[in-house]
Amino acid sequence: MRMTVIGTGYLGATHAACMAELGHDVLGVDVDEAKIDSLQAGEVPFFEPGLPEVLTRNLEAGRLGFTTSYEQAAAFAHVHFLGVGTPQQRGSYAADMTYVRAVIENLVPLLEGEHVIFGKSTVPVGTAEEMQALADSLARPGTSVEIAWNPEFLREGYAVKDTISPDRIVLGVREGSTRAEGIAREVYATPLEQGTPFRVMDLATSELVKVSANAFLATKISFINAISEICEIAGGDVTALADAIGLDERIGRKFLGAGLGFGGGCLPKDIRAFMARAGELGADQALTFLREVDAINMRRRDRMVQLTKQVCDGNLLGHRVAVLGAAFKPNSDDVRDSPALSVAGSLSLAGADVSVYDPQAMDNAKKVFPTLGYADSVEEALRGADVVVLATEWRQFKELDPVAVGELVDTKIIIDGRNVLDPVTWRDAGWTIHALGRSLDKASA
Ligand SMILES: NC(=O)c1ccc[n+]([C@@H]2O[C@H](COP(=O)([O-])OP(=O)(O)OC[C@H]3O[C@@H](n4cnc5c(N)ncnc54)[C@H](O)[C@@H]3O)[C@@H](O)[C@H]2O)c1
Repeated sequence: MRMTVIGTGYLGATHAACMAELGHDVLGVDVDEAKIDSLQAGEVPFFEPGLPEVLTRNLEAGRLGFTTSYEQAAAFAHVHFLGVGTPQQRGSYAADMTYVRAVIENLVPLLEGEHVIFGKSTVPVGTAEEMQALADSLARPGTSVEIAWNPEFLREGYAVKDTISPDRIVLGVREGSTRAEGIAREVYATPLEQGTPFRVMDLATSELVKVSANAFLATKISFINAISEICEIAGGDVTALADAIGLDERIGRKFLGAGLGFGGGCLPKDIRAFMARAGELGADQALTFLREVDAINMRRRDRMVQLTKQVCDGNLLGHRVAVLGAAFKPNSDDVRDSPALSVAGSLSLAGADVSVYDPQAMDNAKKVFPTLGYADSVEEALRGADVVVLATEWRQFKELDPVAVGELVDTKIIIDGRNVLDPVTWRDAGWTIHALGRSLDKASA
């Protein structure tokens, strides 16, 4: 099947390459010329394991191409995926729908014949219906454009696998639609043959599935981080607690990793946009708990800064702090609303001499926070440090040898912001180790 994928960021570039991998003919479209040039040259402009191979293979096979031309997109296919950004609006919790609207406004007037646009971006409930009305008003006489919603659940770091073998495919269609489901079944024939659950529903429900999933995940993380706050005061150990409650299969251990909390281009802005939309619908009370979820999450960043200050005898001025990690999570170079970068920034602004290192996110971090100190290697970041802050749980950091690392730093103090280090091994190597939600001093006594 021929299709376009409009918006070639983390979601769209992955979707375009993976649809080609499934055997389709795909044209990726973006307004960012540099991004399109890079993709067309076989270079993924961000870090996503496995994606460069899929991209190159399909460019070479002639099944994949990229353009900035909407004219070309309109002529290329009758099936279009929309994957542009829906960031948080400035000065508001609501999602900025400018880019989604721009796609409809730019594409629809150019279309001829029968087309289906599958929205993949995460949007406020009601968007698909609104975009359908917009498309109807812009379509040429004799042209029909159907809007369906096909929310995306991929995880950065596992995006290729999640796109080629998703754990479910959700499709929202308008009442009386006959075309979108059949086309989606053809597009996703391979995962459907492999038994991937396929849920077809109305447009509003499909939009709500995505934001509800993210609200649930954010709540689960903030739940354990709230318990973490209690553990810190009462002298409990949040990781032992999470292991124990996680054994209850109704609860489960996943997403109960206490630590610096969530960030990235999705969870924070999605829960805020969900609250904003609930307010517009007159149901704001239903989601006020998400305000607390957000606040708990943000407090973890403050706590990390406070703990660092504490181990520096109450004053960060002049102390050298090695911050390990800048990406919002491992296996990604995405620094959007990154807890690691937020902590590094706060420490620096409080007078610490910060040295940040991340295996993949250095360029993005420098763009967002150019005034921070950056190191070219983990060793360079650690050299002469008064305290080490582990902020993103990259494997490289989890596997650091406390003995070797101990040779580099000035003072052997580490704060594990992700609860991924073994306190016994680090303590045996002469380190003082602190962690969020655990009083490790007590454990060593
Ligand atoms: N990144 C993820 O892990 C992920 C997962 C699931 C859902 N989503 C959702 O997918 C959407 C996109 O997220 P992303 O992370 O890929 O964002 P992104 O910022 O990486 O990519 C968005 C792309 O859209 C392009 N764009 C903007 N306006 C355009 C226009 N008018 N025409 C063509 N291209 C245009 C931008 O240049 C950019 O390349 C968001 O709604 C997000 O919430 C993202």
